[in-house]
Amino acid sequence: MRDHILININGTTHRIEGDASFQTLANYLRQDVAATGTKTVCEEGDCGACTVLTRRSADVDYRPVNSCILNLAQLDGSSIVTVEGLRASA
Ligand code: FES
Repeated sequence: MRDHILININGTTHRIEGDASFQTLANYLRQDVAATGTKTVCEEGDCGACTVLTRRSADVDYRPVNSCILNLAQLDGSSIVTVEGLRASA
């Protein structure tokens, strides 16, 4: 049994252990990753300011989620794209 989770954020894999696994994705993005383009306003899933894209595997499309109401432990193995990870295509 693993004692950590793995989440890919904007192309970088993050290994998260212990109590840190139970914080919200929004707080982790803002405080640990410095991805402050993800905003928090209502922190209860209503306003959408914290929206990021996520997918569980490479064969499915990314879907928007409210990162303020998801714990990291729920996202083990997922890929996340924040506004910082978006690139304009030429
Ligand atoms: S902060 Fe409002 S939906 Fe997440």
